[in-house]
Amino acid sequence: MKPIQLFDPASSTYTYVLFDQATREALIIDPVDEQIERDLAVLREYGLKLLWTVETHAHADHITSAGLLTEHTGAQTAAPAGCGITTAATQLQNSSVLKFGQLQIRALATPGHTAGSMSYVWEDGQGASLGHVFTGDTLLINGCGRTDFQSGSAADLYRSLTQVLFALPDSTTVWPGHDYQGRSHSSIGAEKKSNARVAGKTEAEFVAIMAELHLPKPKRIDEAVPANLTSGLRHDAGGGALLTARVSEGYAGDVSAQLAHQWMQSGEAVLIDVRTDAEREWVGFIPGAVALAWKQWPGMAMNAGFDEALRAAVPPSKKALMLCRSGVRSIAAAKRATELGLQAYNILEGFEGDPDEHAHRGHKGGWRYQNLPWRQG
Ligand SMILES: [Fe+2]
Repeated sequence: MKPIQLFDPASSTYTYVLFDQATREALIIDPVDEQIERDLAVLREYGLKLLWTVETHAHADHITSAGLLTEHTGAQTAAPAGCGITTAATQLQNSSVLKFGQLQIRALATPGHTAGSMSYVWEDGQGASLGHVFTGDTLLINGCGRTDFQSGSAADLYRSLTQVLFALPDSTTVWPGHDYQGRSHSSIGAEKKSNARVAGKTEAEFVAIMAELHLPKPKRIDEAVPANLTSGLRHDAGGGALLTARVSEGYAGDVSAQLAHQWMQSGEAVLIDVRTDAEREWVGFIPGAVALAWKQWPGMAMNAGFDEALRAAVPPSKKALMLCRSGVRSIAAAKRATELGLQAYNILEGFEGDPDEHAHRGHKGGWRYQNLPWRQG
């Protein structure tokens, strides 16, 4: 049994899809946002149901597609607890297990490249190793990840390499997070014997080697790290805090979350929540809202039943208030509702609003930020 290994040429990143032959349940490690169409095609081609997206760490060189994949496939996000990826539904500790079908991966805390970095051992359902380890940027083929930024520590990395990863059987196949020279995999035995950075080196020698690297700053670090702390979900809306409706092109107007709530309370409007089921479950529900996805997974296809369900939900005498995650899909939905003859409004900033300077949503605007009623799960 082998993983499906996928490569992003722009960042030289390897993404891995692991799946159970019998149940077709799958897990993806380190997905890249530019490659989401490819990854969705792979899932379709193999007939897989994605259960988990998993990060080895918060990457500095590419943006994860984890958040998008949850919206497209209904998968859940998992990430190392020490990485500060606040949107990950499952925060992994050392030895945490993620199951898919009769298989699982087990997290190994391997700090050093970043303080939270983890590697993953592939196991059967009983916890017996299948002989594969996914090492992220901790152990690369004849190399290792850098330790000079993002809470890195060369001493920690030395211990993760020599005491954690090199403690695995020599025959274990190493599947790295990157390779810049076209190599696909290695083995623990080979790396223990000949890895140029660490084989036969003392901790002090290794720390000295790492201190001498003087690597350039990764091109995308300023953009990628903040985005990766929110599973790759970025800004997609604009908004304001107005209490009177603003007239807009193609639909009746834009309203603030507060005004939408007032209209809902007074019974003059029906709130239509056009987010996907996965988004609602992930970030929260609005009591009294009608759940009616504009697009839905798999594949974020248009919801063919949208028109009919909207007509059933909103009597002609009432306004239709469209709400999405941050106020973009709701505009398209408000335009469609207008075409169907309804008086339709877009709720500015949606449920969570725009990301703040740390790329965290929910701190700048939106329904939840305004302390309007909502509940989790
Ligand atoms: Fe990295």
